[in-house]
Amino acid sequence: MDKLVSLAKRRGFIFPSSEIYGGLSGCWDYGPLGVELKRNVKDAWWQDMVSRHDETMAVDEGPSAYSMVGLDSSILMNPRIWQASGHVDGFSDPMVDCRETRNRYRADQLVVFGLVKEDEADNSIDDTTILFAAPGELGATPEKELIAPHQKRVSRASKALGNVRVVQIPGALSDADLRAKTFAPGASKPGTLTEPRAFNLMFETHVGALKDSSSTAYLRPETAQGIFANFKNVCDTARVRLPFGIGQLGKAFRNEINPRNFTFRSREFEQMEIEFFCRPEEAGMWYKYWRDRRYNWYVGLGIDRAKLHLREHDTDELAHYAASCADVEYEFPFGVSELEGIANRTDFDLRQHMEHSGKDLRYLDDLEPDKEKRRFLPHVIEPSAGADRATLAFLCDAYTEDTIGNETRTVLMLHPRLAPIKAAVFPLVKKDGMPEKALTIYRELRSQFPTSYDEKGAIGRRYRRQDEAGTPFCITIDGDTMTNDTVTLRERDTCEQIRLPADGVLAYITERLNE
Ligand code: GAP
Repeated sequence: MDKLVSLAKRRGFIFPSSEIYGGLSGCWDYGPLGVELKRNVKDAWWQDMVSRHDETMAVDEGPSAYSMVGLDSSILMNPRIWQASGHVDGFSDPMVDCRETRNRYRADQLVVFGLVKEDEADNSIDDTTILFAAPGELGATPEKELIAPHQKRVSRASKALGNVRVVQIPGALSDADLRAKTFAPGASKPGTLTEPRAFNLMFETHVGALKDSSSTAYLRPETAQGIFANFKNVCDTARVRLPFGIGQLGKAFRNEINPRNFTFRSREFEQMEIEFFCRPEEAGMWYKYWRDRRYNWYVGLGIDRAKLHLREHDTDELAHYAASCADVEYEFPFGVSELEGIANRTDFDLRQHMEHSGKDLRYLDDLEPDKEKRRFLPHVIEPSAGADRATLAFLCDAYTEDTIGNETRTVLMLHPRLAPIKAAVFPLVKKDGMPEKALTIYRELRSQFPTSYDEKGAIGRRYRRQDEAGTPFCITIDGDTMTNDTVTLRERDTCEQIRLPADGVLAYITERLNE
């Protein structure tokens, strides 16, 4: 991960936000290459899911043809939306503070452990056991990572006890007696952690001149509720019939307790969400359709299938309103983590908004013309993805170090559709008419897609620069170009070179980008 973060900074993909002022935790800025990459991810999603969807074609895996429309709702909305959705009362994480170090932790991301003698048969913790809390995941974080923040004290305890092993204690932070014996990371004495308490993740602000409870509003923590709030507007204006989906892409804000793992968990991020409305009896089929379609979307854009998992939630993991849910997970360098969730949310959201707003949000079904029309609340399948997480996964997956000849190179093997720069044009030398010819080709390509022109340095170094930026095609104008009007086109991943007529370069690359 360190190598990727360093490349992202060095090559202008991602910078810490407000860096010259020391940064702002959980916020990131996308630099010149990063903004193109993230825009390509969002465009690919929008085109594949919304704008290029063919509503006249029945889909193989789903029960019928369907329509897709888009939406761009406001970030600030009437706060009653967040009461109806359950966010005001329930969108919280359990938080603990350390009174000594002033650090704040998510209680479910702190593991409490004690040391017992290696040869002791059971895991019992008695009055004399010292307990430690360390950032990690119960049962998943390796012992040496748990021990790291307490290395000295653990070594001392081990010396006293002889060979020891680590015993993890689930639920210890909710038990006052165990908390009193627990050393927080960096604390000099035990018992400095507070009892876990719910911390609402929504950012509050005020609308208008008055700053009181009547003017409280929230920065949206998800784009989904803007879609539900506009369900009736879309039905009334877009002539859509069930089944249909509304896609929305935009910023969301969460005051995460521990933003971490680069852009993976940020406080400001972008979501790409679909609310797909269907007849209740078809929801199961559409759930499977969207779950598989969304998994395949990542594979189609080059993510290694071996590192991409579809994890169906167990029944006891499901939110109270969800009939089923699956996560698309990716093997990031920091562990397997969620990229996107696909949930069958039943009619929970529309029902909540109907009750809270007093507006009839039921759909009038005219499926069978000779039968009585029925009014009902459609059920909803929600594929909810993060643009920043997807961008990070594409970057992690593309990052490659290989050896060409006897030189190692770093290359981003991004899908050509996602690559920030599609082509780079180089004159071999800065004379003999080569720069002029190169500029003509550069301008022709640049009018169609992001293209770079580079005449500085040895040709090998120019290739390496483009490899690190993920540019799939490099075109070199050399002595032969000046006699037979052909150029060299070099492929990023294989480094293979072919010769092409200069006037065929645009058509060749365009075709490859559309593959
Ligand atoms: N409407 C459902 C919803 O918002 P979620 O699982 O909370 O569900 C959906 O979020 C997706 O949004 C996640 O799978 C992830 O890709 C992205 N996401 C959520 N919180 C994020 C954060 N703090 N930083 C970056 N991306 C985040």
